[in-house]
Amino acid sequence: MDNERLKVVLTRRWPEAVERELEQIFDVSLRQEDGPMSRDELSQALKEADILCPTVTDRIEGDMLRDPQVRVRLIANFGVGFNHIDVAAAAERNISVTNTPGVLTQATAEIAMTLILTCARRTGEGERLVRSGKWQGWHPTHMLSTQVSGKVLGIVGMGRIGIALARMAHHGFGMQILYFGRSEVAPEVAAELGAARVSLEALLGQSDFVSLHCPATPETHHLLNADNLACMQPHAFLINTARGDVINEADLADALAGGGIAGAGLDVYESEPTVHHALYECPQAVLLPHMGSGTLQTREAMGRCALHNMQALLAGQALPNKVV
Ligand code: DGY
Repeated sequence: MDNERLKVVLTRRWPEAVERELEQIFDVSLRQEDGPMSRDELSQALKEADILCPTVTDRIEGDMLRDPQVRVRLIANFGVGFNHIDVAAAAERNISVTNTPGVLTQATAEIAMTLILTCARRTGEGERLVRSGKWQGWHPTHMLSTQVSGKVLGIVGMGRIGIALARMAHHGFGMQILYFGRSEVAPEVAAELGAARVSLEALLGQSDFVSLHCPATPETHHLLNADNLACMQPHAFLINTARGDVINEADLADALAGGGIAGAGLDVYESEPTVHHALYECPQAVLLPHMGSGTLQTREAMGRCALHNMQALLAGQALPNKVV
């Protein structure tokens, strides 16, 4: 294939080192301003590029892909989750879609662990108190919090990230691991982690911390809702670094306000960057701006992973991370 003619559009800026690597191989179009592309700009890019590299902030819908003028042959997503792309429509049009699995496992598990610790140990509140200048000094009953070590962690979705979190929690904090997932983990992994597979209801009822690591699919939409949030223990915390719409945010805000659960640590939201207004009012909610994969090392690795997929297209080889 003549690479001179392969045009690549990045919808957002990538770490500079990877942009330079890309430019050595492809005719790359970079945005000058790093804001999200509008729907019209995305549709135009699909008509002008051979390869489009979107992110979680770009909705690539079926009607955009079905336009007869679409030129794109590969959508090389910068990210592992691809629920923002209509993959069925891409398949209809013979457009390949790839993602970047594996490279963001540790970084995302770290943010899940951070949220567990931040919620339980009230470190966000503590930092804000010191910064406010109102801290009155140490005393025995000040800002009492919940110990994490030795508690039960329930993991929903025991894929790469779920297992990485389980390792940190079990080996680092002596936590007992329960999980709910489509399939059983390998016996040696279950043995290493002492992990037991249970139903969702059992997991919610028995865990001190519940952490979500499943993809956003029609089956997982609002998987956590008023009915099953009610199964959680009042002292338990819910952590979400997966996708916002796995939780019904209005139901979560009600559960927090009513004391049904002790707190929530969220990195992802149903309508990013909008956060359900009631969550802002919940002091027991720790809210992060979708930063799970946000280390420089990981974002560079995500870019290189996308680049490998593009190079495979160029070389006429099987795409390493093809999801369609
Ligand atoms: C992912 O890779 O899916 C992260 O959420 C960032 O997009």
